[in-house]
Amino acid sequence: MSQPMIHILNGPNLNLLGSREPDIYGHDSLDDIARDCAALGATLGVQCALMQTNHEGELVGMIQSARDQAQGIIINPAAYTHTSVAILDALSAFDGPVIEVHLSNIHKREAFRHHSYVSARADAVIAGCGALGYELALRQMARMLGRDHRA
Ligand code: DQA
Repeated sequence: MSQPMIHILNGPNLNLLGSREPDIYGHDSLDDIARDCAALGATLGVQCALMQTNHEGELVGMIQSARDQAQGIIINPAAYTHTSVAILDALSAFDGPVIEVHLSNIHKREAFRHHSYVSARADAVIAGCGALGYELALRQMARMLGRDHRA
């Protein structure tokens, strides 16, 4: 069986990771996260492709593309988490598992970050684990896709 493909989608301002408010979001860049996920994916028997956009419609397009290109989606919608019904609707049209990731614990922050539209569709939510959250999500995704080798 070919290895499942997991798309790791990232919303606005996450291209600045590493230099953006490192006390909240940590020192790892998105490239660091992509590299760590690719290495972990190889041990788990899954492929992954990480993408980022600052535009809501483009994020919707990425989710739509995953419908025939990926078996699972890991998504950090960033600020669109709290505003976007369009992203929720796009995720609802995706058949595979969805895991929502936030570097920070959104529930410990300002009240406007406490609500996530995406959580209504997500099969799992990870928040407050920093960059490690992406790796935790990848492990859980591999398990959900039947690729749990206890790596
Ligand atoms: C974030 C949390 C959001 O509230 C914020 O707008 C982000 C990043 C996180 O990863 O902690 O841009 O999704």
